[in-house]
Amino acid sequence: MTAIVIVGAQWGDEGKGKIVDLASEHAEVVVRYAGGPNAGHTLVVGTEKLVVRLVPSGILQPRSMCLMGQGMVVDPGVLLTEIEALEKRGVTVRNRLFISEHAHLILPYHVLIDGLRESAATQKIGTTKKGIGPGYEDKVARRGIRFTDLRDLDRTRGLIDAALLAWAPLVHAWGASLPSTDAILDDLAPLAKKLLPMVADTGKLLDVAVRAGKHVLLEGAQGTLLDVDHGTYPFVTSSSAVAGGACTGAGIGPSRIDRVVGITKAYATRVGEGPFPSELTDEIGDQLRTRGGEFGSVTGRPRRTGWLDLPALRYAARVNGIDGWAITKLDVLTGLETVRVCVAYDTPAGRTEDFPVTELGVSRPVFEDLPGWSEAIEDIRELSQLPSNAARVVRAIEEKTGVGADIVSVGPRRDQTIVVNDLFR
Ligand code: IMP
Repeated sequence: MTAIVIVGAQWGDEGKGKIVDLASEHAEVVVRYAGGPNAGHTLVVGTEKLVVRLVPSGILQPRSMCLMGQGMVVDPGVLLTEIEALEKRGVTVRNRLFISEHAHLILPYHVLIDGLRESAATQKIGTTKKGIGPGYEDKVARRGIRFTDLRDLDRTRGLIDAALLAWAPLVHAWGASLPSTDAILDDLAPLAKKLLPMVADTGKLLDVAVRAGKHVLLEGAQGTLLDVDHGTYPFVTSSSAVAGGACTGAGIGPSRIDRVVGITKAYATRVGEGPFPSELTDEIGDQLRTRGGEFGSVTGRPRRTGWLDLPALRYAARVNGIDGWAITKLDVLTGLETVRVCVAYDTPAGRTEDFPVTELGVSRPVFEDLPGWSEAIEDIRELSQLPSNAARVVRAIEEKTGVGADIVSVGPRRDQTIVVNDLFR
């Protein structure tokens, strides 16, 4: 087993941080392949908690080389702050973290435009306002600025001029003004100087590692239902969050990937706008939010909570080619009298067990009630030891998706985990 993709199967925040952390213990290379500072992982360094948005969580494993792939959009100021915070806490970053020379930069005008657009929009997306959408827009419009461009700041100046020219009419229509190229470059030049030694052909580094049979972990960001192609469009992010995004976003061929692990919570959450048919707006929803600590690590926003959506998981299993599940936060459901799971949808065209991704807003979930359990499960380390009603939730996921569980997480700590299939063995 060499290259494993870890991908979120819901709307992000599935608890990837813990699973990536567990798996990266045996990984020699950890690569992030999509998204930007809209993601957030809480790392525990010694006794301190640190939220990183860009640096792969594998950075805490001293053996791992960490790569930030060309599928990412990177705010250089945010990245440098993270690197300095890690170094301050004794984590070695230099010579271990490399940024793809093809990765695109998020610059101050992207952040400005993201915020202005969210304020002006009649149909808000509820973005993280970190400049993600405008950054990717510039990339596909072929006027983006890549890390390789920073090697020649005169060239970068011309590229920024061109990008500002393209955005100016929109920004002026909103009654706002753009920063000048000089101001942007004044801030960018010192960041470029510090980051350029870490800029590399990360695809080649990855290829060398794969050829040498090293354990490689390809870490997704956000989740399947936020993917720009496969998610609940337009309420999505602007990148390829699905497992296929690992190929383009990290620069690895599909034939080199050995396993895709899908992460799902035992319930569902969503941040921002967009349909969420299994949403709970009652006190059970509040209970899940409080017990599950469901508040955004980037924006602090309370997450919307709801019951597990099995058609969504079957859809995620299909579009990602999921081989095994990592089911997280099963313990959060302990104490509920009844655990509901969405098993089908009533759509305008009739009842279906498929996930109605384009008609989600006009479809009604069909629930099945499973009996709850009251026994604490945090100390359980074998699937067979779970209370039978907790095991039923795991079985429901396995049966409805046709995919078995690799990992079941029963608490936030690293050891509070049932390992069914040790990923790199
Ligand atoms: P953007 O990625 O900031 O453009 O936001 C687009 C949508 O994706 C919004 O609904 C965000 O709340 C959501 N989103 C982006 N990143 C994450 C994440 O890491 N977890 C959960 N939701 C996210």
